[in-house]
Amino acid sequence: MTEQISLGMPQLPAPEFPAEVQGRLAADAREVIARYPDSRSALLPLLHLVQSEEGHVSRTGIRFCAETLGLTTAEVTAVATFYTMYRRKPSGDYQVGVCTNTLCAVMGGDAIFDELKAHLGVGNNETTDDGKVTLEHIECNAACDFAPVVMVNWEFFDNQTPESAKALVDDLRAGRPVEPTRGAPLCTYKETARILAGFPDEREGAVEASGGAGPASLTGLKIARGETPHTTIVHPRGEAGTEGGE
Ligand code: FES
Repeated sequence: MTEQISLGMPQLPAPEFPAEVQGRLAADAREVIARYPDSRSALLPLLHLVQSEEGHVSRTGIRFCAETLGLTTAEVTAVATFYTMYRRKPSGDYQVGVCTNTLCAVMGGDAIFDELKAHLGVGNNETTDDGKVTLEHIECNAACDFAPVVMVNWEFFDNQTPESAKALVDDLRAGRPVEPTRGAPLCTYKETARILAGFPDEREGAVEASGGAGPASLTGLKIARGETPHTTIVHPRGEAGTEGGE
């Protein structure tokens, strides 16, 4: 009798979703695909769709996307592993991302990330035991004018400090309501993933709350246009200001 030796390779094919889930996702997928002239263009939203079901992109989710779009699982995996917005393992209800790119880092992002790791007892891309918070360091989120920035499920929490960030994760873990500095109200990672898949945010006032650019984002534009000939830019935490204008 020949001995079976595992080579540590993944077992393929992955299992399917349960029939009820498969049917529901298939109906949603048809709606998403109908938005595009070429079905394979729907891959990114479909990956968000499977994340909205499982909270991450599993092998089953990759199989679903591949079979739905007529792609290979290798093609889907290549995309799912390229973009950091797709999680590859079960994770928390709240993805807490601390920007540690250059500007946020020097403005306090590095300190926030270090203190959150110690406070939560997790490392980068790890989840708290209660399954609530997954911590990660993230690259620039184009919110440098509000540095240092923390994002929870892609909603902005501007001008953070180690203390405010620790209070934020404590509130998330305790189920207390938290409000992003700007943008739509916070929802869970799975709910966010469904919105990113292109389905409307049905919560009352959510779309209206998205708003426009904040004052810090518009200051440079106003100076350039001469609308603000002499401006004193004061940090929101009341620290040293910078002269601008002319
Ligand atoms: S460096 Fe943090 S948002 Fe740009």
